[in-house]
Amino acid sequence: MGLDQGKNLLIVSFGHQAALAKKFIRYYFTAGNRHDVHSPFVYALLEEVLNRREALPAYAPVEALRKQLLQSDEVLEVTDLGAGSLMSATNRRRVKDIVRHAAKPPKFGQLFYRLVRYLNAATVLELGTSMGLSTAYMASAGAAVHTIEGCPNIAERAAKNFASLGLQNIHPYTGNFDTVLPGILNSIPAPDLVYIDGNHREEPTVQYFHECLKKINTSAVLIFDDVHWTEGMERAWETIKAHPSVTLSIDLFFIGLVFFRPEFKEKQHFVLKF
Ligand SMILES: C[S@@+](CC[C@H](N)C(=O)[O-])C[C@H]1O[C@@H](n2cnc3c(N)ncnc32)[C@H](O)[C@@H]1O
Repeated sequence: MGLDQGKNLLIVSFGHQAALAKKFIRYYFTAGNRHDVHSPFVYALLEEVLNRREALPAYAPVEALRKQLLQSDEVLEVTDLGAGSLMSATNRRRVKDIVRHAAKPPKFGQLFYRLVRYLNAATVLELGTSMGLSTAYMASAGAAVHTIEGCPNIAERAAKNFASLGLQNIHPYTGNFDTVLPGILNSIPAPDLVYIDGNHREEPTVQYFHECLKKINTSAVLIFDDVHWTEGMERAWETIKAHPSVTLSIDLFFIGLVFFRPEFKEKQHFVLKF
């Protein structure tokens, strides 16, 4: 990486972080809570899932693994197929840095765990395995988790992590979402929960949404990561929310959830504090 490229990257990332922080502050002071929710489904979701913050025994092994990975100086040669990190232009990364930058923090992994249980999700599809921490949370909740990772070295490292946790209900796939997603969707049961956490760009995100729509049932939930990350992701999120099949959307700032249940007669959108 040349000096100029490094400087530009730094400026982009400072500017980007500042813009994101501004959006987050606005979210923080305007997001609603249980008093702002009139939908019984969303109220129950808040009470039973979002606001249930007590530590559960199932979280401990995943967090022990995270702790171990955060201390690992092991270096992986990384193939970046997505929007990647706006912070890094190198393709050699330490495992600890991958976890620090790519893995969803515990509170989100734990939310996914509770969502899988609350919705009785039997089949989960995840786009973006990385080190497998979010995968491990959802698998620990009992779902069969099909997870896709584009970088072979990362996928290999994630497989070791799944083995170390003794999780047998994870089905990993290595490949570019753009090419492998249709085939995987055709070969697995209809997913009850899809977590899209990779290639955070407008067009591919909307494309993955449409691809999943062909397969899912109306009881499913789709979760999109980092919907406010860039202007492109903001547009993708607007497009997804506005799609006629979406009857309910919930914005938790760092993730957005969409539901398709026909019992919600009018399209509803909530921005909730999490
Ligand atoms: C943000 S990380 C996933 C983090 C993980 N879900 C967690 O919370 O622990 C995104 C992953 O998606 C992978 N990825 C990005 N774009 C991809 C693409 N087009 N095809 C396949 N994998 C991709 C990256 O290699 C990266 O490991």
